[in-house]
Parts: sequence; structure tokens; C-alpha cells
Amino acid sequence: MTTSKRKAGFRTPLCDRLGIDIPVFSFSHSLEVTAAVSRAGGYGVFGATHDEPQQLLEHARALKEMCEGRPFGLDLLLPTLAVEKNDRAAAEEAVPQQHKDFVQALREKHKVPAATQGHLFSKHVRSQELFDAQAEAVIASGANMFAMAVGTPAELVARAKAAGQVTLSLIGSPRHVQRSLAAGVDLLVAQGYDAGAHTGTIGTMSLVPQVVAMAGDVPVIAAGGIATGSQFAAALALGAQGAWTGTIWLGSKEHALDPILTDQILRAGSEDTVISRSWSGKTLRMVRSGWSEEWSAPGAPTPLKMPYQQVLVGELNAAVHEHRIESLMWTAAGQSVAYVREVRSVEEIMDGLIEETEQTLGRLAALRRSS
Ligand SMILES: Cc1cc2nc3c(=O)[nH]c(=O)nc-3n(C[C@H](O)[C@H](O)[C@H](O)COP(=O)(O)O)c2cc1C
Repeated sequence: MTTSKRKAGFRTPLCDRLGIDIPVFSFSHSLEVTAAVSRAGGYGVFGATHDEPQQLLEHARALKEMCEGRPFGLDLLLPTLAVEKNDRAAAEEAVPQQHKDFVQALREKHKVPAATQGHLFSKHVRSQELFDAQAEAVIASGANMFAMAVGTPAELVARAKAAGQVTLSLIGSPRHVQRSLAAGVDLLVAQGYDAGAHTGTIGTMSLVPQVVAMAGDVPVIAAGGIATGSQFAAALALGAQGAWTGTIWLGSKEHALDPILTDQILRAGSEDTVISRSWSGKTLRMVRSGWSEEWSAPGAPTPLKMPYQQVLVGELNAAVHEHRIESLMWTAAGQSVAYVREVRSVEEIMDGLIEETEQTLGRLAALRRSS
């Protein structure tokens, strides 16, 4: 393993266990962000839930090259769903006409042309069949970590471990600790309410110590609202061995978000994020936008459950972003979006985070000496 460019002035036992220098884990749908974080000495984790299985394998191959020998992970959402088959036509038939009419009216009101490229969720159905194929691809991919969110099947954990992967479960409630531990995961991510994308109802400060207390020897990583050194130091104080971050990377040069979305991110404060079921059918924190407003307006239908909401809106959403329909473009982001005020490189973000954490730890140590 190569040595990283910089060493943080602090480390946790997890650094040695995973072969990293900085206990910062990035979640991103960008290959460039993932690789840049791993190269900087953290642990880059790529969100592969939007990937067809073949594409997932190609992305893993690219990451292996880009990470230059440093470890990286792949993340999948694996909710337990009643839908067995990846049968798009049957799922479309199950969508109520009232919902289809609303989406058609949105399309006309915002003048959205049809998508030409499509997206996983405009072609497939989140179903057991799709998850099985994606999970097979992750296990075969050579990624160092398999991160599982919203569900942690024990059989997959065992197979990933047998393939030499570190396994990890993202959880949002103490209720999920026992199930994840019983599945045999190596690590837990305790993700609080502040977080971007799918989120539960418990704040990070209340959640992390409870999960740490229940996890025993299994290390816990804190997620949700960590974008500054004082927040990172607070997570360490709560007993976490690392920080799992998503929102902070949305403002990175490497992410290269569409400028319309970058503008939304740079202008948003914590109060500008809302929780909406309008994309996946499950509660998801996003920056308030024309999209979230349309779905919460009087007369809008209640979003459908997963996977039907995505069957309903998958094509429209792909078209909105392909054709850059500003009035409906949206991105997931957490309350820490308030700290993303300029576009910086991953290295600058990482340096800033580490420096601030060191300063905070120094400040806390000084408090102790002077008391
Ligand atoms: C744009 C965006 C997309 C996300 N998508 C996923 C996802 O597909 N799977 C997942 O497990 N977590 C996803 N997350 C959540 C992250 O894994 C992480 O828990 C969260 O971002 C941490 O909180 P923070 O946003 O306050 O940093 C996403 C987060 C963001 C910001």
C-alpha cells in the first residue's frame, strides 16, 4: 500500500484496521470524488445504487486504477421490498392513474421533453431481482468494502466477507443495531437526521452514543451533519471512530455537479433542506426546489411507496436533468449544506477538515489543562 500525502494529527484504531491515514469516509456518486478521497488518505465510497450490474463492474475497475492502490468501497441500498421481479410493465400498471395524470401535468407545465438517455430508474424496478444482480456485481468487483444501506442481508454479509471485503451497515436507529450485528457486519455507520438523502428521525448527537453503547467491539462511524472540524471532533467525542460524509463533497471541483445544482448548494442554508418522499418513496432530505414544492403543493398526490414512486417519476426525473429544466432540478443534501459556501478541490476540503479538527481537539485539551 502506498503512503498518503499527509498524516492527520490524530487517528483512531479504525485507521490501522482499514489501512487509511485519515478516518474520513466519503459517500459520493462521483468516481472522481471517491478516488480523490482515497488518494488523500481517507476512504472513498462510491454510491453504486444507480448502476446497472455491468456498469457497476466497469466503475469498480475504473476506481481501482484511480485509487492508486488505496482502498475504496461500493455502496448499495438494499431495502426489503415486496417486489420480487424486475418487471417494469407490471409495476407501471400498478401505478394509480391519478398519479400518472399529475406527472403528465408537471411535464406539460414545465415543458419537459422526453428523456433520450434514461436512467436505471426509468428502465428498471427496485426489486429483489435487481438487488441480487447488483450485489453479485459488488462482491465480484474487487472493491475493498461493501457498504449496505436500508437493509443488511446476513447471507450477503457472509459472502462479501468470504470475498475479503469489509462489510458495513448504515443505520438510523438503535432498533437496527441488533439486526446489523447479527448479520455479522464489521462496521456500523450511525446516520442521524441531519444527513443528506434517505434519513431517519433521530439526530446525530442523540443517535451516535446509543449505537456506540450497543455495538460492543464493532467500531461505529458517525454520519449526518459533519462538514467542519468541530463537528468531526464532536463525533469522536461521542465515541465514533470516524466521520461518514456526503454533503460536504457536493461542493467539490471533482464532483462537477451541474452548475444549476451547484448554485442551489452554495446558496442553501440548513433550513433550505426538506424531507420528501417524492423521489424514492422513502423519506429523503433534499434542497428545497421546484420539484419538492410541486410535490408538497395543495392538490399534489401523496407519493407512492418504494418502488412505485420511482416507477412513476423515473423517466420525468431523468428528462429534467438531461434537458436541464431548472424549475424542477433538485439534489439530495443534508443540513450541513450551510457549510458548503464555495467550490474547492477534494484535497482542500480534506485539508480544511483535518486542520479544523486538530484545532478543536487542541482547544478541548487546553480546556482540560486550565480547569
Ligand atoms: C447527494 C447524496 C446522495 C446520497 N445517496 C446515498 C445512497 O445512494 N446510498 C447511501 O447509502 N447513502 C446515500 N447518501 C447518504 C450518505 O451515505 C451519508 O450517510 C450522508 O450524506 C451523511 O450525512 P451528510 O450528508 O450530512 O454528510 C447520499 C447523500 C447525499 C448528500
